[in-house]
Amino acid sequence: MAWLEVLDSQALKEGEGSEVLHHGNVIAVFRHEGRLYAVDGLCMHQGGPLARGKLASGTIQCPWHGWMYELETGNNAVTCQRMLRTYPVREIDGKIEIDLET
Ligand code: FES
Repeated sequence: MAWLEVLDSQALKEGEGSEVLHHGNVIAVFRHEGRLYAVDGLCMHQGGPLARGKLASGTIQCPWHGWMYELETGNNAVTCQRMLRTYPVREIDGKIEIDLET
């Protein structure tokens, strides 16, 4: 694993998302129901910014047209089709880190 520090812990409050850019990739990081999640940050429909979407019951809803994805799997929440890559994420020493290589 190659952990990459992306955010200060205090920068991501419960129920919020944040967009992280890394070498041209957009990753959305969320703190939801006490857990952290990291998934591809652009919606598979038309590229909507998922970090600005609405969190509910383990899903993120795209702010543009409402497609929903499961945070744990990256699957479309309606069709169950795998759509977004997910990334390991952890919080250590006041920092949030993701692993983009796994
Ligand atoms: S761009 Fe996300 S639902 Fe259309």
